[in-house]
Amino acid sequence: MIREEQKKVLDAWQTSARYWDKYRALIEQMFAPLTSGLVEEARIGIGQEVLDIGGGSGEPSLKISSIVGPTGSVMYTDPVAAMVETAQAEAGSRGLTNIHFKQCSGDDLPFADRTFDVAVGRLSAMFFVDPITAVREALRVIREDGYVSFVVWGPEEVNPFFSTVTDVIDRFVESPRHDPDAPDAFRFAVPGKLAGILENTEAKNVTERQLNFQITAAISFDQFWQLRTEMSETLREKMAGLAPAQLPTIKQAVADAARRYFASGTMSFPAEALIVSGRKAAV
Ligand SMILES: C[S@@+](CC[C@H](N)C(=O)[O-])C[C@H]1O[C@@H](n2cnc3c(N)ncnc32)[C@H](O)[C@@H]1O
Repeated sequence: MIREEQKKVLDAWQTSARYWDKYRALIEQMFAPLTSGLVEEARIGIGQEVLDIGGGSGEPSLKISSIVGPTGSVMYTDPVAAMVETAQAEAGSRGLTNIHFKQCSGDDLPFADRTFDVAVGRLSAMFFVDPITAVREALRVIREDGYVSFVVWGPEEVNPFFSTVTDVIDRFVESPRHDPDAPDAFRFAVPGKLAGILENTEAKNVTERQLNFQITAAISFDQFWQLRTEMSETLREKMAGLAPAQLPTIKQAVADAARRYFASGTMSFPAEALIVSGRKAAV
């Protein structure tokens, strides 16, 4: 069952990889506050050896590589081959030499105990098929007192970047019943849920910080619509179930709902995330 679920998650990300590459500059800009929050919570600084779990098209690895500098290093990991390829190509084109790449899943890290100072994951923990094992693995491979920090989305209702589209589409397409523990962008939106896993895996000093920020980019509604409907597997699946004749009506309804987030050629959505951190206890 876990294998089947894992395959489904990874296949979806394999298909998504080209869109995450296509929109990499926008993704970097829109979600930059999440990286800053992670860097701050995990106390990442010059000379550290950092593990990035589920690095996708390259963030936060690419940013952290400049923070740790030439005396530090980043180990980017992701289980999806197409993600690893795009991130590695980007690091190459930027001439970054302190990032290393490994294709692997968060719940089976191919590193020795106590290899890294810090482990982080930006928007990836919610897709771990087995989050308890993945958190244990992250703690295993960091050094004593090191931080493990994950940033995850807060509730969909307070993240209109997502809900303005899904609320409208859900009026037209029947969604299957949702298992709150299945891999999904909002799986850890409930305060305390991911923190509880960290506590149960014996991380110490577990904290959860709510991060409120704006998802901002100089794009039009049409560009936002294209980006959202291409980047998300869930939306791609739902859109495939619609008749082409319904699309203009749906797009117009989303445009009406999203109007207040677009002004003078700029998109700005309020957003909420949680940064959940803990430290490796002495063993
Ligand atoms: C929303 S993307 C985030 C990517 C990147 N960290 C970012 O913030 O732009 C989620 C990533 O989690 C990865 N992922 C899915 N299952 C995973 C697992 N079991 N272990 C580690 N990463 C996983 C996906 O391949 C994908 O690249």
